[in-house]
Amino acid sequence: MVEVQLKVNGAAETVDVEPWVSVLDLLRERLGMTGTKKGCDQGACGACTVLADGRRINSCLALAVSYDGSEITTIEGVANPLQEAFIRHDGFQCGYCTPGQICSALGMLAEYRSGMPSAVTDGDRPADGSPSEAEIRERMSGNLCRCGAYNGIVAAIHDVAE
Ligand code: FES
Repeated sequence: MVEVQLKVNGAAETVDVEPWVSVLDLLRERLGMTGTKKGCDQGACGACTVLADGRRINSCLALAVSYDGSEITTIEGVANPLQEAFIRHDGFQCGYCTPGQICSALGMLAEYRSGMPSAVTDGDRPADGSPSEAEIRERMSGNLCRCGAYNGIVAAIHDVAE
């Protein structure tokens, strides 16, 4: 067992974990925070996305011991206009991927605002400098939605990015 100290949504947590326990399993099974979802458990779907020190990660691939001392933000700790935008634009259907979509979108917007380039050319951006639909789709390409609510998700992100 290894002692891991984290701040989760602002609260200090000290947990003894085996070295192979993921951040996802620590959150869900040790801390009872089931807002973060397990989809593929192998880094392919993005359902498990959380923010670690402000950057988005697939928590199923992240070993908890590697995040000792980190600040983790999960959907339980998010209160952001983006959530209302998801509702306004029907950015979900079954909702299973939504916690990961929201956390990923918050990370994506932080990347965009910091000037981090995307694979889609900045020349596609509208005149107001907000991210284009293509850029949002590219930056969110790690988050899958089996219901196909992508148009609403993109619209919600675009709404708050402006
Ligand atoms: Fe982590 Fe799918 S559950 S990427």
